[in-house]
Amino acid sequence: MMSISSKIVGYGHCVPQKVLTNDDLSKIVDTNDEWISTRTGIKSRHIANNETTSDLAANAAKMALINAGIDVSDIDLVVLATITPDYTTPSTALVMANKLGIREGVPAFDISAACSGFIYALTQADNAIRLGQASKALVIGAETLSNITDWTDRGTCVLFGDGAGAVVLEATDNPEETNVLATRIFADSKHIETLKTNGGVSTTKSSGFIQMDGKEVFKYAVNALANGAEKALEKAGLNANDVDWLLPHQANIRIIDGTAQKMGFDKAKVLTNIANHGNTSAASIPLTLSQKVNDGTVKKGDIVLLTSMGAGFTWGGAVLKI
Ligand code: ACO
Repeated sequence: MMSISSKIVGYGHCVPQKVLTNDDLSKIVDTNDEWISTRTGIKSRHIANNETTSDLAANAAKMALINAGIDVSDIDLVVLATITPDYTTPSTALVMANKLGIREGVPAFDISAACSGFIYALTQADNAIRLGQASKALVIGAETLSNITDWTDRGTCVLFGDGAGAVVLEATDNPEETNVLATRIFADSKHIETLKTNGGVSTTKSSGFIQMDGKEVFKYAVNALANGAEKALEKAGLNANDVDWLLPHQANIRIIDGTAQKMGFDKAKVLTNIANHGNTSAASIPLTLSQKVNDGTVKKGDIVLLTSMGAGFTWGGAVLKI
């Protein structure tokens, strides 16, 4: 029986123009560049001014479509991961679809899985393609976390940034062309209180701000990131030696380094953009991936191991052959 699988044919990204440096932050809260740099690896982040999440998503998606050489009229599925939607309803996927001119009848929906959002979204789109329900899908991670950041809390406001990343997935019946080799997603609801917003529609009737127990998140993150990566590798039938690049969710350089060390990856094999973007949640993986593919760091044929962990807790991994 002929089986269908998916290949990524285009990568795109977009960040807001405004840049907030650590020195800028030190004028807003009691902090300094030295503390932020050594504890997190972050030097600056992009912050939305007038841009909405759907604006960033639409620009990233347009770039991915151009990169793929695919017309927007050919897209037959849109999956967008975000925890900072433009509206409570309709979905940001639909608002973005309207901006892009996605044709009538094409399903578009949001995924809420915090920093694991992109791997969750990729999994759903890959599954839809494998089931023959879609042939060309846009998969996007987009956030304006600055809107749910408490700018008076120095313990969290230094960590986050805004941005978007996108890929175009295409169905193929040629196993040689498949490049989404495996996806795995997980969650554990025991940890819903450890990292959350202090509000929401049906509780406080507002979106709230991010609050977290940073040390608890830190402890869990390294194990979860390693676990997501290992499970995805196992499913792909590969091992760590086959991997050219590890691309972990960009939460904190110490978490990234800890994960690489736990998995036995040399730092030179780890893709990061945290220094100039901070933690962009669902956008962090596709944003980094698009930057590194488009600047030539990641080359055709390279095996890239994605892994993420976020509020919930959620986590997951994916193996790509670029
Ligand atoms: N500037 C200066 N001092 C600060 C700042 C700041 N921005 N923030 C906290 N401090 C102070 C604290 O008040 C504390 O002071 P005290 O000792 O006088 O009480 C001191 O620095 C140490 O604070 P800790 O919270 O113990 O610092 P820690 O080393 O744990 O680092 C951090 C904090 C960076 C948040 C760390 O716990 C972390 O990275 N956790 C992971 C959280 C994360 O990445 N979350 C993102 C979302 S989750 C995800 O994406 C997977």
